[in-house]
Amino acid sequence: MKHACVIGWPIEHSRSPAIHGYWLDRYRIDGSYTKRAVPPDAIDGFLDALSAEGLAGCNVTIPHKEKAFAKAVNREASALAVGAANTLWLDALGELCAANTDTYGYMTYLASEARDWARRDAPVSILGAGGAARAIVYGFLEAGVGEVRVFNRSAERAETLAHAFGSRVKPMPWEERSRASTEGAVLVNTTSVGLKGAGSLDMDFTDFHPDCVVSDIVYVPLETALIREARRHGLRTVDGLGMLLHQAVPGFEQWFGVRPEVTSELYDLIAADIEAA
Ligand code: ATR
Repeated sequence: MKHACVIGWPIEHSRSPAIHGYWLDRYRIDGSYTKRAVPPDAIDGFLDALSAEGLAGCNVTIPHKEKAFAKAVNREASALAVGAANTLWLDALGELCAANTDTYGYMTYLASEARDWARRDAPVSILGAGGAARAIVYGFLEAGVGEVRVFNRSAERAETLAHAFGSRVKPMPWEERSRASTEGAVLVNTTSVGLKGAGSLDMDFTDFHPDCVVSDIVYVPLETALIREARRHGLRTVDGLGMLLHQAVPGFEQWFGVRPEVTSELYDLIAADIEAA
């Protein structure tokens, strides 16, 4: 029997056990996936004891993603690009391996919902410059986008991120986020604005190219004010829940040996849980 879990501090509200539990049932796998509250001063010890605890690996959430990355012996390109890991497993030698599957999750869902997002050779706009922004910037660069514009409330953070990724990434003033995105192929919110209805990004979609795809990584509520406003202007939208579901796929495959499918049934199950919360 294989065991995995998600660790964080706090961890109560994680939806990962519901996602992995759905797949364990669906594929009739003799395994378990639980959540563990690990305080910051216990993370080193927890990771050192993974194998002794009988764990094949774990998902990692706030505030442990950087520490998980630092402890890993083998790191996939996505984790190296982001400097943080959300998925850990032990290889055949018992060495700790790390990936950041947010890049995969975001890009996979974007492609499934808006297959032709890259049809026009146009820039992409990213709102925010934190860890999630790094994962998504990396995804667009890997997908061959010529210019990724990063808009962040505090300018230095946008500059630091752009500097880390090179000349295809351009730091932009926060005030320009609408005006400098009108010709864009995709606009993504990676900030926490809109989470549980808090705050507003004050985007003006009036002059946006009709093919632009607007996406939000916030998934509580499922339809954020940003998504609603973009729809009102007739733009295509991509919600944040799909990224959450797809980022879970590589970990499940590592630990349990089956590549799971993100089904509409799974989407509806987690959506109902979010709506009930
Ligand atoms: P994560 O790793 O999940 O991306 P983070 O590193 O805390 O989280 O980054 C949060 C992002 O949301 C940052 O880009 C932050 O902007 P600052 O760098 O200026 O702090 C952005 N953010 C949070 N609240 C915001 C607000 N009210 N308006 C604009 N941006 C906000």
